[in-house]
Amino acid sequence: MSRLLWPPPEKPAPPGRIIYSRAFPGKNYSHGSPPEDGGEPDTKLMYEHDVIVVGAGGAGLRAAIAAHEEGADVALVSKLHPVRSHTGAAEGGINAALHPEDSWDLHAYDTMKGSDYLGDAPAIDAFAKTAPDEVIQLEHWGMPFSREEDGTVSQRPFGGLSHPRTTYAGAETGHHLLHTMYEQVVKRGIEVYDEWFVTRLAATDEASPGDRSCQGVVGYEIATGELSGFYAREGVILATGGLGEAFDHTTNAIACTGDGQAMAFRAGAPMEDMEFVQFHPTTLPSTGVLISEGVRGEGGILYNDEGERFMFEHGYANNEGELASRDVVSRAELTQINEGKGIEDEHVDLDMRHLGEERILDRLENILHLAEDFEGVDGLDEPMPVKPGQHYQMGGIEVDEWGHTALDGLYAVGECACYSLHGSNRLGGNALPELLVFGGRAGRHAAGAVEESPDIPTGPGAKSEDGSVDVTVDLGGIGTDDPVVADGGALATPKEVLERALEYERERVDTLLERDGLNHADVRAQVQQTMTENVNVFREESNLKQALRDIREAREQYQHVAVSDPSRTYNTDVIHTIETRNIIDCAEAITAGALAREEFRGAHWRQQYQERRDDEYLKHTLYAWSDGNPELYYKPVILEGHDQTYEPKERSY
Ligand code: FUM
Repeated sequence: MSRLLWPPPEKPAPPGRIIYSRAFPGKNYSHGSPPEDGGEPDTKLMYEHDVIVVGAGGAGLRAAIAAHEEGADVALVSKLHPVRSHTGAAEGGINAALHPEDSWDLHAYDTMKGSDYLGDAPAIDAFAKTAPDEVIQLEHWGMPFSREEDGTVSQRPFGGLSHPRTTYAGAETGHHLLHTMYEQVVKRGIEVYDEWFVTRLAATDEASPGDRSCQGVVGYEIATGELSGFYAREGVILATGGLGEAFDHTTNAIACTGDGQAMAFRAGAPMEDMEFVQFHPTTLPSTGVLISEGVRGEGGILYNDEGERFMFEHGYANNEGELASRDVVSRAELTQINEGKGIEDEHVDLDMRHLGEERILDRLENILHLAEDFEGVDGLDEPMPVKPGQHYQMGGIEVDEWGHTALDGLYAVGECACYSLHGSNRLGGNALPELLVFGGRAGRHAAGAVEESPDIPTGPGAKSEDGSVDVTVDLGGIGTDDPVVADGGALATPKEVLERALEYERERVDTLLERDGLNHADVRAQVQQTMTENVNVFREESNLKQALRDIREAREQYQHVAVSDPSRTYNTDVIHTIETRNIIDCAEAITAGALAREEFRGAHWRQQYQERRDDEYLKHTLYAWSDGNPELYYKPVILEGHDQTYEPKERSY
């Protein structure tokens, strides 16, 4: 009987508080030492490395490899085992201008157009130029790319691309990418602290975030419930992924809770362009599971309830049809559904039957399994039901084109970061090359191998204009005892900053475990519901204001949450409770930015403002914590790169 298996047998106590790396048994990474007299263990347990990478999905793995190649002592600290990271759910592919008839500047132009001219040229150009090298590097590391008969790596069309540029490995590209890079991490002996949830940055708290520095992180070991400090001699790289859990219909894994964004925000790094949320047009209605754009790339067709190929027949995208960019297709689908042309009033159909069994099995087999397992539909015999779902966060922690934030020693890469690469809409197939290119750049920079000064400014000095949000609720922290006030302390030594952060965090977790109170799940559900109802594809002023009121109420309730499971061993209630606070901070930043931006650009549609307003809004939104009182301001978009200058044009597909 399963009851006999629980509770699990007592784990033997570790000797003192020495921690042994599971990746390299027997090696002691602890600064704490076992008490000689067998008394109380040293509670100031610290690990120490040159570069600490938080998160071991694609961006974290790439950053760790790059920093290690520059000679740094690197550690990956991750809430999940690396190959369980959400990168593994990426299906479609990796864009790179590899074909002789393609070129990096065409890729850059498509990316800028896809961004609706809210991308920054230095980031876009660096990205498009480097993506081919990264794909070739992956291929040399053994990535099992799908190939043509002649052995060349296959490339398929994806939305918004002017050339078939998306390399792929079936419809499970992310899975293979993760495994390929994890092998490289193991081969190099990079230390991995897996199932360690980083809950706080150890940052100094000078008045201006531009004067602060990050000395390390505090990690919660999921297996034991112990909190420890990780001191980073050179830098901390956040690679914690997305925040899809702020919505209740998302392609994201349950672990995608905006942890890095919220921690950096509370430590003073501004969040940038958070209002831009991508809703993927083809997710399964019952679960949000992704059906890859690769299906449309191979020729899949969208139909409404009347059997119309609405992307063409209703003029949503007369040239590209189903392969218009995602914001365009998602709006088209929802317009059809809202006009009563949805199937069962809820979804549209994606049909790939005409592609034939051989091609489907060769390039999209995984899609057949997903449709069968989650909807009971056989994609070889019938169309698959799909509707838009939250998929990706274009905004994130403000960084320059090397992934450096406003705080000295703090970097961010992958989905948690905003280099202003995707602007207001990301093109499908641009997320995986992003994490390769910028993971590599940030890793090298953190290891001290880059001399160049950035072209993209960050921090308060980048401010060009104050902004405001017209709401009747307070935003930001609650009271002085709210545990989300700025972290750290401008103390004498870096290790003291870390010890202080560790103390804060121990106190916080102890309080959650000891007191009685509300369950975080109710608070989280309230945020998810209001975000899905009010901050979705179509946005309206009164709904956005309602969302901010609901988020405020959730924040107030969060002051009273408690963890009912007292265990220190694999206590998922503790983890989810800590994550819920991160979700609240991210949801507020998204909604405040959405309310402040009074225009229609890319994925941000406003009922009252049906035009892109370049005269007023060709600028990035910054939302900064400022000791608990968020400040909203703007900085200009950079359209001038080293090689080309971009001219905003009307965007049509
Ligand atoms: O549709 C997809 O396969 C997703 C790709 C992406 O988000 O880049």
